[in-house]
Amino acid sequence: MKNTILIIDDEEPILESLEMYFSEKGFNVICAKTAEEGMHKTLLFDPDLIILDVRLPDQDGLELIKRLKEKKKDTQVIIITAFHDMETTIKAVKRGAYEYIPKPLDIEELDSAVCKALKAEEKVKEKNGLIIENPSTHERGKLIGKSKAMKEIFKAIGILSENRVTVLIEGETGTGKELIAQAIHYNSPFRDHPFIPINCSAIVGTLLESELFGHEKGSFTGAHSTKRGKFELAGDGTIFLDEVSEIPYELQAKLLRFLQEKEFERVGGEKTLKSNARVIAATNKSLSQLVREGKFREDLYYRLSVAKIEVPPLRKRKSDIPLLVEYLIGRINCELKRNIRKVEERAIQRMMEYDWPGNVRELENVLTRIAIELREEIITEEHIIPLLEGKGTDQKGSVVGHLLSLSAVEKEHIRRVLEYTGWHFGKACQILGISRPSLRKKIREYNLQKEKNNLLAF
Ligand SMILES: Nc1ncnc2c1ncn2[C@@H]1O[C@H](COP(=O)(O)OP(=O)(O)OP(=O)(O)O)[C@@H](O)[C@H]1O
Ligand SMILES: [Mg+2]
Repeated sequence: MKNTILIIDDEEPILESLEMYFSEKGFNVICAKTAEEGMHKTLLFDPDLIILDVRLPDQDGLELIKRLKEKKKDTQVIIITAFHDMETTIKAVKRGAYEYIPKPLDIEELDSAVCKALKAEEKVKEKNGLIIENPSTHERGKLIGKSKAMKEIFKAIGILSENRVTVLIEGETGTGKELIAQAIHYNSPFRDHPFIPINCSAIVGTLLESELFGHEKGSFTGAHSTKRGKFELAGDGTIFLDEVSEIPYELQAKLLRFLQEKEFERVGGEKTLKSNARVIAATNKSLSQLVREGKFREDLYYRLSVAKIEVPPLRKRKSDIPLLVEYLIGRINCELKRNIRKVEERAIQRMMEYDWPGNVRELENVLTRIAIELREEIITEEHIIPLLEGKGTDQKGSVVGHLLSLSAVEKEHIRRVLEYTGWHFGKACQILGISRPSLRKKIREYNLQKEKNNLLAF
């Protein structure tokens, strides 16, 4: 079926030449000279793509994108304009434009943008791949997983939120230990009391003691007034001791006493205080190993691990990956105001083959980085590969799965050469053995961009 393109521009010669060009290429072309006419024809003809001039007699084209996108979320919009400035680009992209082409128009450039936009849309409409359902709001702190291991963890959270025993959560970095501790607390009858996280590796010895148990005025240099510690402040809440392995040996004895007796003294204080706070501790090092090495008190280890949750690394529960990707993209869409609607099947496959040494946090970072730069509404393997490149992949993964398509190799190679030459076209063309126009075409085709430092400004 023919694709329909709507061109909205008030300049007759541009309308005519674009109409002729795209009709000849086999598109169904419709023209409009004002924003109102454009809006009307959009609703009437439901075009697959709109080429839109920013300057229109009756309304700013940027405003029009907003209205168009409200009515037709899936229609791709390509902006053309004489104002080639960063601000307009950012606004246009924010409002959902797919691409931005400056005037005077380079027809090749416009043509390649049109083809790419339509191809991306086709891919979104294909049946396979992971469809992202966007909830209207996205609460943080949800624990996602359907693997056997995660189901066991959900069960443990259910049981542990009913009592107040001390819990030790062991797992590699980024596996969701803090999230699990929060889930235990917020599912318990004490959810309205504070949940106080303390990173034991971020605070040095005496200060950590004072942070936990408080101090009396004048007990050490800098102690200008009496301060209550987190155990006092927590009341019936939960103290989350993150990286508990880093607690200095002497302080370990005080923590042990608290766990046994619920009693403690402030630094420099004589009065014995009591607290009912629950302790949940987490570690990404093996505590039993540290006990064997004499770096962690054995008695404290046993006290802490009355209940123990071991969170397996992501590579050992890969069946959770698609569900996590769906959830995380939904969240990223909300937080970064993006509209990623799909993840291509091969992209999911890539993610399943990768080992994720940084676990869910790394997955979240990779998806965020892609979302920041992405112009399409679909994530493909080309987006994923450069971010996983050179890092560990699952040895058991199929050999074919690791082999790249020709275009992916070409894209990567051109990107490297451009980076190597500092985007010097002359040198890059020499190395690649191609002409400047060919290089430009490739850059457009693969959407290669010079590393920008201001990406986060979007
Ligand atoms: N099962 C999960 N479902 C949803 N999000 C998750 C899950 N596991 C981890 N995350 C997300 O991954 C990130 C890291 O999680 P978290 O901080 O709980 O990990 P951690 O094990 O405490 O890491 P570290 O050891 O580095 O402190 C967070 O943004 C969290 O929301
Ligand atoms: Mg943590």
